[in-house]
Amino acid sequence: MGFEHTSVLSQEVHEHQELKPGNIVVDCTLGGSGHALATIKAILPDGKLIGIDQDLDAIDHAKKVLHPFKENALLFHSNFSDLYKILNSNGIEGVNSILLDLGFSLNQLKNGKRGFSFNENEPLDMRMDIRNDLTAFEIVNSFQKNELVDIFFKFGEEKFSRRIAKKIVETREKKPIRTSVELAQVIKSAIPAKFIYSQRIHPATRVFQALRIVVNKELERLENFMEDVPSLLLEGGRLCVISFHSLEDRIVKKALRKFENGCTCPKDLPICLCGFIPQMKSVFRKPLVPTKEEIDSNPMARSAKLRVAQRV
Ligand SMILES: C[S@@+](CC[C@H](N)C(=O)[O-])C[C@H]1O[C@@H](n2cnc3c(N)ncnc32)[C@H](O)[C@@H]1O
Repeated sequence: MGFEHTSVLSQEVHEHQELKPGNIVVDCTLGGSGHALATIKAILPDGKLIGIDQDLDAIDHAKKVLHPFKENALLFHSNFSDLYKILNSNGIEGVNSILLDLGFSLNQLKNGKRGFSFNENEPLDMRMDIRNDLTAFEIVNSFQKNELVDIFFKFGEEKFSRRIAKKIVETREKKPIRTSVELAQVIKSAIPAKFIYSQRIHPATRVFQALRIVVNKELERLENFMEDVPSLLLEGGRLCVISFHSLEDRIVKKALRKFENGCTCPKDLPICLCGFIPQMKSVFRKPLVPTKEEIDSNPMARSAKLRVAQRV
């Protein structure tokens, strides 16, 4: 299987992780292990990389890429929302750096054979972790029309949600929609032609994003993870998150703001009763975005945003 190293914003991440030899570092989203490889080299000779991915293919690939440094790496086929449990069961009380490079990898898109791409004719699956039950096939072929409308609107911000859901229901009444290309054709046929050709992206992009988010519970997992962040980092430790759409970025931004503000008491209360103190500090206000050169050489970087925050 041809894994490609497609790390986005890698130089910026590397710089802001501020890694030092001996650090304990977590890469929550190994993917093609591009970031992980650069990370592990920076923490040698006695640092530890804890690598996680919910996709077994990514773990198998990481084992090969990181083999020369196997003494410094601990790899887990798991969800990053379980990081607290992983650290706890390995006797690690806190880490110097955590990286989340969200979304899917180029390998999942091109070779995953799970219907992530509307250009490859593959079964409608979209599970990053094949141990989970819910697939895109089940959603598309058995969810109620109104549920589909909600999913496409909420998680894809798709303005033609109603038309697309209606078309899906009409089509599946004749026969199930089995593959990614079949679904992409149904979506395209539901959207007025003048909008198809005026858009920069493929007409199925938003619905595919929405299905992927629901199948993998992406936002829920990210929210759960963000709740734990201050308790996972050592003082001065850094969190770097690369997100690829506004729904993810909003969750990260909101959680960081809460940890930065500390006190949650109503403003008119003369003294603080909640006792919450600031736990994190953002390294820069606005997220970093890729340069034009990076977007030209890797179109997947187009919507990437990097937020970095430090445990105080
Ligand atoms: C954009 S890729 C990461 C690319 C990687 N940084 C590199 O250098 O090649 C995202 C990876 O994160 C994994 N992933 C996404 N959400 C996850 C989650 N909640 N828990 C664990 N892994 C996750 C995906 O399976 C995918 O392999």
